[in-house]
Amino acid sequence: MKLFLDTADIDQIREVLGWGIIDGVTTNPSHVARAGRSPAELFPEICRMVPGPVSLEAMGLDADTIVAEGRALAKLADNVVVKVPVMKEGLIAVRRLAAEGIKTNVTTNFSAVQALLAAKAGAAYISPFVGRLDQVGQDGMTLVSEIRTIYQNYDYQTEIIVAAIRHPQHVLNAALIGADICTMAYDVMSLLYEHPLTDQVMQQFLNDWQKVPQ
Ligand code: E4P
Repeated sequence: MKLFLDTADIDQIREVLGWGIIDGVTTNPSHVARAGRSPAELFPEICRMVPGPVSLEAMGLDADTIVAEGRALAKLADNVVVKVPVMKEGLIAVRRLAAEGIKTNVTTNFSAVQALLAAKAGAAYISPFVGRLDQVGQDGMTLVSEIRTIYQNYDYQTEIIVAAIRHPQHVLNAALIGADICTMAYDVMSLLYEHPLTDQVMQQFLNDWQKVPQ
């Protein structure tokens, strides 16, 4: 399973690239706002740093505007994936961009039927937001499971990016379901390394090593 870092923070990207476990980056408008830099300057810098797909979001609300934005974003670098919201105009744009060979990541996905439509439109990726579903009392992982089944039933090649991940259990469940990718914030990715028993055993070994005659 591939892991993407969900951020527009250059320092976080640089650090996590050094961990050797990430395959790409996803950004969203909130991340870009937090970065406090103009997309024209920030986006090419991220694309140069990351040796894998970088999702950059188109903000238009009608298909023509989204297609125009998508074309402009795709010109920034070969690894750009245009993030498009899963709405009717968005999926019209996805089909048109796919016909031009421009990859899209259909985002803000909250239902399996939306994911079916995204695959039919030719999306390269679908991003179900599991943590946000959990927050409103629905099971985000059930959605991932349904999408996996539908894509397998009809042999759609659209890759599933499990998004809005809140904790390592989401990553475990995504891997067990067979999702293609998990994208997560720096803080959640850091947690993937953690287990209290690892700390406990390490502390024991370090203490005992002090008693070994040198
Ligand atoms: C994914 O591509 C999104 O950027 C992200 O996962 C959104 O999730 P959140 O804002 O709920 O964390």
